[in-house]
Amino acid sequence: MTQDGVRIQKIIADAGITSRRGAERLILEGRVSVNGIAVTNLGARAVPGTDAVEVDGAAVGAPEALRHYMFHKPAGYLTALSDVKLGRATIMHFLKRLPERVYPVGRLDRDVSGILILTNDGELARRLMHPSYLVPKIYRAAVEGSPGERALNLLRSGRLMMDGKPCAPAEARIIARGEDRGSVELTLTEGRHRQVKRMLSAAGHPVTVLKRRSYAGIPLDPDLPPGGIRPLTALEIRTLRRKVGL
Ligand code: URA
Repeated sequence: MTQDGVRIQKIIADAGITSRRGAERLILEGRVSVNGIAVTNLGARAVPGTDAVEVDGAAVGAPEALRHYMFHKPAGYLTALSDVKLGRATIMHFLKRLPERVYPVGRLDRDVSGILILTNDGELARRLMHPSYLVPKIYRAAVEGSPGERALNLLRSGRLMMDGKPCAPAEARIIARGEDRGSVELTLTEGRHRQVKRMLSAAGHPVTVLKRRSYAGIPLDPDLPPGGIRPLTALEIRTLRRKVGL
């Protein structure tokens, strides 16, 4: 053990075992050792690849290579790895062809399509999902009724209440408008349950079709068909990491 190196909780989180907070719990519960000595101090450090870090006696090896993918989630699939209770189709149908285990960053409703990031980088995923990083998500919604300035102003106002808490102001613009239907683009920095549908319903325009077109500054690749998965480019990975201070 050493004053150099990095915090043990970071080594455990980077290995994809759990979040940094989860790793701190493991340390406090006395389940972590470095070079055979139990560590219960959250300030302890180790040198990855040199010191032997173990959780419950199992080596936290060199961190697994970090993988990042863009997935074009089609409508009709749950964002879950299995649906034991009801046996509905899940995104695992597509993920199982990948050579390594990766997890979705956040979720899209079953009837919603669009960009979903998949990764085994636990720390990156945790930060992207944490509301304090204000990660922007852009949605396109087909809606009932003819949305106008009044609805847009409400969406932008920060006055819409959900579960007793105001929604952060959204960027909102009209993409198309007919007599009794329209299309609206919303940019949210929160990720509350069914947020776009609930905000648009509250503004008087229930959603009929919803798609996420961009996540954390990365647009859905127009060449990626529904169900398609491709590795993120180095530039896209850098964009994601920068967004959350990594
Ligand atoms: N807002 C929704 O209503 N559903 C989603 O899946 C994502 C955002």
